[in-house]
Amino acid sequence: MALKITVIGTGYLGATHAAAMAELGFEVLGLDVVPEKIDKLRRGEVPMYEPGLEELLRRHVAGIEGSTGRLRFTMDWAELGEFGDVHFVCVNTPQRHGEYACDMSYVDSAIASLAPHLKGPALVVGKSTVPVGSADRLAAYLAEHAPAGADAELAWNPEFLREGFAVQDTLRPDRIVVGVRSERSEKLLREVYATPVEEGSPFVVTDFPTAELVKTSANSFLATKISFINAMAELCEATGGDVTKLAEAIGYDDRIGRKFLRAGIGFGGGCLPKDIRAFMARAGELGADQALTFLREIDSINMRQRGRMVELTRQELGGGPFLGKRVAVLGATFKPDSDDVRDSPALNVAGQIHLQGGQVTVYDPKGMDNARSIFPTLGYADSALEAVRGAHVVLHLTEWREFRELDPAELGEVAAERVVLDGRNALDAEAWRRAGWRFRAMGRPGA
Ligand code: UDX
Repeated sequence: MALKITVIGTGYLGATHAAAMAELGFEVLGLDVVPEKIDKLRRGEVPMYEPGLEELLRRHVAGIEGSTGRLRFTMDWAELGEFGDVHFVCVNTPQRHGEYACDMSYVDSAIASLAPHLKGPALVVGKSTVPVGSADRLAAYLAEHAPAGADAELAWNPEFLREGFAVQDTLRPDRIVVGVRSERSEKLLREVYATPVEEGSPFVVTDFPTAELVKTSANSFLATKISFINAMAELCEATGGDVTKLAEAIGYDDRIGRKFLRAGIGFGGGCLPKDIRAFMARAGELGADQALTFLREIDSINMRQRGRMVELTRQELGGGPFLGKRVAVLGATFKPDSDDVRDSPALNVAGQIHLQGGQVTVYDPKGMDNARSIFPTLGYADSALEAVRGAHVVLHLTEWREFRELDPAELGEVAAERVVLDGRNALDAEAWRRAGWRFRAMGRPGA
């Protein structure tokens, strides 16, 4: 009999995981505590923009014409406990208000709600990003509170999906990491992931703390790579060097590699910033804070880039206050192919200039509603062209393909001044210069 799978929490991670599990052929039951989310998912609608996810969901959600019917949603914990052999916990772990540490309340409450309904053998699999040591604590909780006792086991299986690529990263992960304490858990997880493993995804079996650490250390490494190249961008600016050439040249060394060496206004989003902070906080609790003090510098290099972009803009506008200056901002999301504006460097820069008196007009292909809801006082336009109309300076802050495909000559017709600042080192400088624009970018020589 095929395994029955449940997914607790239906955000980016959970909705994608649930749809992917159905795609792999399992019967899946998803649960969320927010009724609006469940209503939407039952209609086959995704509560966020993620390429390919809606199609995948609609292929499997029960009740949708032509679907396999393998994926259903509920808000009932008893039904969930009864249904599943393997329960994936996919709730979020945000930064705690006013602290660096991570807020475990959603994970804790998911486990507490599930435990009383585990009456027979079951495997609970944590996918959320948690402080190292959490799995050990939660396993003990389950053994004590589930009627099945020690037959209610725990495993930890961190998730590495990138927003914008969530579907492909979930169906064909570049690695599957499972922290387990028994052969039975390992066997069940090998069954769950049999298809991607057959298709070549490496399967790495570890203990609990290693599995937890893999996730936070991977994100710390990525954050370090980005801040490293941004520090080099600062040096390039001080010396007249070009950070894009530097990144290309060091990237040919395959020990270094070219990926994640794009200098600019830095990283944001719902993961990297909060994960490195939570990691530092946890290291402090463990008395190992010295090992991670470098992350403090990574964080501050990153945050500094936002301020540097504001200053570069000020310089290009003549060096004085922003009052009376019209600034077009292309991009609001923290990265392209997403509508996520959490800790978005682009919105941060737009907000700083606006709060200093600039007349900011933002355009983003998918992030407008989310941006408006967290920053209602900024100006918004329905297209790049409208945002640029009458602007004294244009800032390119999220590297959407749409922006690379803009015609600089056409934009030049409507801008008040032809000055563009590339905060993502992604535009074709020569094309803009040919169309009469003054082109500046972070870590590169001026026009
Ligand atoms: C990240 C991890 O990549 C993923 O493995 C983990 O599961 C969750 O966190 P995500 O938040 O989707 O994924 O974003 P990512 O693609 O890593 O980008 C993070 C930020 O770094 C973005 O703001 C992006 O613009 C920025 N970035 C990325 C750079 O500034 N330069 C680069 O070279 C690469």
